[in-house]
Amino acid sequence: MHFPNLLLMAALASPGAASPVSSSCPPDWQGNVAAPGYTSSLPICPVLQNNGVALTRSEIAQIFTSHTVPVDDTAAADMELIRRTISRYALAIDGRNFPVLDSIFTQDALANYSEVGFMSGIQEIKATLSAALTLFAMTQHLMGTSVIQLCREEQEGTVNGSVLSAVSATYVLATHFPAPSTGWPGVISPEDIAVVPVMYQDSWTREVDCHGAVAWKIRGRYLLYQGLLIGSVPNQSIGLNA
Ligand SMILES: *[C@@H]1O[C@H](CO)[C@@H](O)[C@H](O)[C@H]1NC(C)=O
Ligand SMILES: *[C@@H]1O[C@H](CO)[C@@H](O)[C@H](O)[C@H]1NC(C)=O
Ligand SMILES: *[C@@H]1O[C@H](CO)[C@@H](O)[C@H](O)[C@H]1NC(C)=O
Repeated sequence: MHFPNLLLMAALASPGAASPVSSSCPPDWQGNVAAPGYTSSLPICPVLQNNGVALTRSEIAQIFTSHTVPVDDTAAADMELIRRTISRYALAIDGRNFPVLDSIFTQDALANYSEVGFMSGIQEIKATLSAALTLFAMTQHLMGTSVIQLCREEQEGTVNGSVLSAVSATYVLATHFPAPSTGWPGVISPEDIAVVPVMYQDSWTREVDCHGAVAWKIRGRYLLYQGLLIGSVPNQSIGLNA
């Protein structure tokens, strides 16, 4: 009998896949660690943006046609850590706990949230997102399906010339409430909320700390609107009049 979930849990519990990353590493520590053995079986990573703009839905569908999912405990743990980072983004944003974003985006991450802005670096991401959310008392980011493709990037100076990376596309329904919840039952009219259907197109970096603990972080996020905004948004918050 086969218990894939137990294997996955064992892989997650192993030192090589532990999370969170310890903070006791030297600040200048370079994560120059060999890619896992399965990296060489992966396709080359596609580029998930075109001149700074998210790809179209047709292009995204084409990119995720690969059937390559390595049969490997480390790969299963890597996929789970990526899913966890996607989920933790919603917790950080809806919990207004912006320091948590340090563990979600790389220091040099780029993010194009369209009308909200193009952000370069974790400090700008935190400042822009926290400012954009100030007009909403509450939000709920419902992360829908994520398609994740582990892939490799050719990079000079690395073992075998490749580093392990990943790309993903995640469906999101972000609901923005102008007033705080006063508890259940509470009612708000649909025209007084802003429901925004989007897709996050993410490129990933696998960071390994000096103890060998693995963290997957977003280094590129390009947002694609899907459908139309439902309800209304205060003008200032997303710069519609800019
Ligand atoms: C490097 O490539 C060789 C031959 O393909 C393979 O056996 C080895 O596992 C690879 N090493 C790493 C760290 O990926
Ligand atoms: C960000 O994406 C939007 C489209 O969603 C595009 O109009 C804009 O030019 C992009 N910004 C940058 C800096 O590339
Ligand atoms: C947003 O701006 C438009 C056009 O400037 C205006 O008609 C509308 O009333 C404004 N909406 C809000 C919620 O301020």
